[in-house]
Amino acid sequence: MRVIAIDGPAGSGKSTVARALASRLGLEYLDTGAMYRAVTFAALRRGVDPAEQDQVARMVPDLELEVSPDQVIVDGVDATIEIRGPEVSRAVSIVAANPAVRAEMVVRQRAWVAARGGGVLEGRDIGTVVFPDAELKVFLTADPEVRAQRRSKEVTDLDYETVAADLARRDALDQGREVSPLVEAADAFVVDTTGLDVEQIIDVIADQVRLGG
Ligand code: CDP
Repeated sequence: MRVIAIDGPAGSGKSTVARALASRLGLEYLDTGAMYRAVTFAALRRGVDPAEQDQVARMVPDLELEVSPDQVIVDGVDATIEIRGPEVSRAVSIVAANPAVRAEMVVRQRAWVAARGGGVLEGRDIGTVVFPDAELKVFLTADPEVRAQRRSKEVTDLDYETVAADLARRDALDQGREVSPLVEAADAFVVDTTGLDVEQIIDVIADQVRLGG
């Protein structure tokens, strides 16, 4: 079973790299951040306060999530656009710190891989918790300003300062939480993407895959 784990903070280039690597290796790709965003979307839609751990936990077991590279469906509703919006971005790190939510998502992520016999997964805890035995674990980093610049190019309706503040706040929550905090796996291949373009990042990682991780 071929599993490649790509972890790192927001704006480090995970999605772009994971997609490109999956297509080079002929594997499917799973954006686990989209799953936490989808749970957050469901809570907001049902009027459940994202900070109410028990209420959010009760919602999760029968939540219908379909996460594919170009579409996210939550309980039959197309949430592809809204899961990237400011309301979900504001609340997602609180939802992702909920142990019951994480436990359920990890089960679904492992089932996704089992059904396909492998894949490229990107997130925060893939190499540390979800697939500690992955063939290759990549941890992407980049300077906070560069990450905020990349992200603010993608979200055209928010100014740079707002995007930078959201990233810094989420980084702090994701790194500081009790369950599965964002941290480099001891055996991760760390790539600082600050001065690199997409092609360069993928070349560096593809070399590593060829070398056998
Ligand atoms: O794309 P971006 O880096 O902005 O974030 P994302 O990958 O869509 O993830 C959104 C949020 O979900 C993160 O800030 C984390 O709080 C959470 N997350 C997580 O806790 N564990 C994962 N494996 C993936 C995402």
